[in-house]
Amino acid sequence: MKKILIVAMITVFALGAKAQKFEGLADTPPMGWNSWNKFACDVTEDLIKETADAMVSSGMKDAGYEYIVIDDCWHGERDSLGFIQADPARFPSGIKALADYVHSKGLKFGIYSDAGWQTCGGRPGSRGREYQDAMTYASWGVDYLKYDWCNTEGLKAEGAYLTMRDALYEAGRPIVLSICEWGDNDPWDWAEPIGHLWRTTGDIYNCFDCEEDHGTWSSWGVLQIIDMHPGIRSAAGPGHWNDPDMMEVGNGMTVNEDRAHFALWAMQAAPLIAGNDIRNMSPETLEILTNKDVIAIDQDTLGVQGYKHIDEEDYEVWVKPLAGGDVAVCFLNRTEEAMDITFDWATNKLVDPDFGHTTDFAQSRYDIYNVWTHKKAGNTKKALKASLPGRDVLMLRLSKK
Ligand code: GLA
Repeated sequence: MKKILIVAMITVFALGAKAQKFEGLADTPPMGWNSWNKFACDVTEDLIKETADAMVSSGMKDAGYEYIVIDDCWHGERDSLGFIQADPARFPSGIKALADYVHSKGLKFGIYSDAGWQTCGGRPGSRGREYQDAMTYASWGVDYLKYDWCNTEGLKAEGAYLTMRDALYEAGRPIVLSICEWGDNDPWDWAEPIGHLWRTTGDIYNCFDCEEDHGTWSSWGVLQIIDMHPGIRSAAGPGHWNDPDMMEVGNGMTVNEDRAHFALWAMQAAPLIAGNDIRNMSPETLEILTNKDVIAIDQDTLGVQGYKHIDEEDYEVWVKPLAGGDVAVCFLNRTEEAMDITFDWATNKLVDPDFGHTTDFAQSRYDIYNVWTHKKAGNTKKALKASLPGRDVLMLRLSKK
């Protein structure tokens, strides 16, 4: 196997084929599961296999979740020729066997590396080994690479991610490239031809409204993340998505908070990467993660990220234009107290600031469908009156009559 890989590498360098990004891999935001938020470095092949099993048996696969991604710390050492190996204690059967298992469930398999010399968890990074690692991943059957940005002193982000994009392309297996440099180098300005999604912020933290200070860096609650980088939605679209990080649904927030978190990710056309223990989740968590009406808004083929129509300190109204002229509207109560709202459709023309989609309720009437109760909720003739529980949303899909 190693000999074949070495011959392949020499051939690739000799031919010097023109590299590009693999197209058509993320026409809608990727959906899946990643080990980091819940398990951090405590990853094993049994965990990954059981998670793949649960993805199918829970109904998450049927709801659209596809990728099972091992984050940091799967790595062992490089061998004498420099090939990366899995940690033999945690992954005794090797990564190829694990990828085969995940594929046998009808799912896709993802892995993690870093553009620097070490990963954030101190495992070997891909710096200087990009082509060798890309070929190794391709030979294992990897479908998705999350590529991190720790220990990258002296590197330029755009160039480093371009190198890995080219390496993946030369390796010949279509692999989604998930760029993870935390929005530090404005990836929305350069990453579209390089990756399929790019993190826009530092790490998420399992809270609705908080900053967790780690000394030299912070991780962020749901509200903090949705407040960051308001001006970047025009960079997202089919094949290239802003990524506000993997989800914390089911990791300890309240049901209301989890619902709001999931709704806001869908309104932003965010990748929906679950980050909880899907082998053991409550019925409420499963119901949130598999809400097909909310997922349909995230996965809408128009591929337009939502915008804020009303932006008040405690209350926001988010709008996401959808294919065929439908529109999703999400009312958010940021506070812990219940809130009464009134929204007069006729005086609220919805105007997309970047893509020009407009919805004028004074001109046309729309039917209202509540995507959390799965019930019709009248139309836009009368003003909407509702009570929003604390830290929760009212999320509607509107269709022209
Ligand atoms: C960084 C990333 C996280 C996770 C860890 C792993 O912090 O942003 O999502 O991958 O590294 O060490």
